Amino acid sequence: MDHFLYRNGQLFAEDVPVAEIAASVGTPVYIYSTATLLRHFGLFDQALAGMPHLVCFAMKSLSNVAVLRVLGQAGAGIDVVSVGEYLRAKAAGVPGERIVFSGVAKTREEMRIALEGGIRQFNVESEPEMEALSEVASALGVVAPIAVRVNPDVDAKTHAKIATGKSENKFGIPIAKARGVYARAAALPGIRVVGIDVHIGSQLTDLEPFRLAYRKVAALTEALRADGHQIERLDLGGGLGIPYERSNAAPPLPEDYGRMIAEEVGHLGCEIEIEPGRLIAGNAGLMVSEIIYVKEGEGRDFLILDSAMNDLVRPAMYDAHHDIVPVVEAAPGAEQRAYDVVGGICETGDTFARGRMMPPVKAADLVAFRSAGAYGAVMASEYNSRPLIPEVLVDGDKWAVIRRRPSYDEMIARDIIPDWL
Ligand code: LLP
Repeated sequence: MDHFLYRNGQLFAEDVPVAEIAASVGTPVYIYSTATLLRHFGLFDQALAGMPHLVCFAMKSLSNVAVLRVLGQAGAGIDVVSVGEYLRAKAAGVPGERIVFSGVAKTREEMRIALEGGIRQFNVESEPEMEALSEVASALGVVAPIAVRVNPDVDAKTHAKIATGKSENKFGIPIAKARGVYARAAALPGIRVVGIDVHIGSQLTDLEPFRLAYRKVAALTEALRADGHQIERLDLGGGLGIPYERSNAAPPLPEDYGRMIAEEVGHLGCEIEIEPGRLIAGNAGLMVSEIIYVKEGEGRDFLILDSAMNDLVRPAMYDAHHDIVPVVEAAPGAEQRAYDVVGGICETGDTFARGRMMPPVKAADLVAFRSAGAYGAVMASEYNSRPLIPEVLVDGDKWAVIRRRPSYDEMIARDIIPDWL
């Protein structure tokens, strides 16, 4: 459920007409709904209510500081994967004790900044990383709390580019080697084992792969405890999928996911951490775009938009589906036409949808891409020298620009012509 609904034939973001924002800020623009963000965070929080837990929003999905402030004020923790993300979480006011640091490529400098600023735990992905962290923490005279990310070798049954839990993926340490790695961790200065971490992939629409992975983590918890390690926390990762196509069967709900977690690991008495990104942010965002031209091709009509793959790359990168709806609702029973919906970038990959059935639209009409809150703005680039598009946050009848559109001068001024030219 989200808060982008038609009222009297006009698409609204909560209590604000989308067309009003577009007229004021221009298009393309991302629009986020506070109520939807909070609702989805709350669903996870409630789903784990029977266990000590922390829901850590995976901010890679949507990293605007204003959005982080909304979730942080609601009590969310944050999962970060770079020191840039760490500093954004801090800028949003999230305390270090609610920030977990994931990622395979943490540098010593990143470790130092997080240790100095305060951190709940590092999710360590390899032995070399563990040794580096031990050195950095020891040099600072502090102890770094760690969970080791294990790779359970489970098929997440999702798009290959976003599956992470198979042995051929670069993530985590093979679960079969975990006992040896934990033994090594116990012997290293400057680090303290607090738990186990696992994350098998994103946009999972079935609970079974999670269940298999969590079952393996439960068995490992018992084995590690028998070896004398303190396993107090289980970080079970993110990955629960969302319904991108309203016509498709709905994926499991956070409630079902929470129940399965309780079944698989509830008996261990651990504090549960999860790292959802997409389910919190995905349906909390729209990307709104204007139709520049409608072009009749041979046997197909092209809707040419003022947004492009640089603004929302998911269709080009993962063949992802996003519902595209007119901002002015079509009359009931209006005929549908097939359009190829494209951006203006000079490659054919810049296609949002092929043969998409939509009510007839015309140049200067606005359309909204649904489910664009997660992995939308964060993956945008300036390809073709198109400045990053603005972001707007709505809360009830209030709205504000939370990232403004840079001017062309600002974009160009970042380049430096060397003095020999
Ligand atoms: N935790 C870790 C360690 C992750 O790598 C990820 C996502 C998450 C949590 C959050 O997963 P979520 O709940 O959002 O599924 N750009 C791709 C998605 C990449 C996901 C990467 N890792 C897309 O647009 O589909």
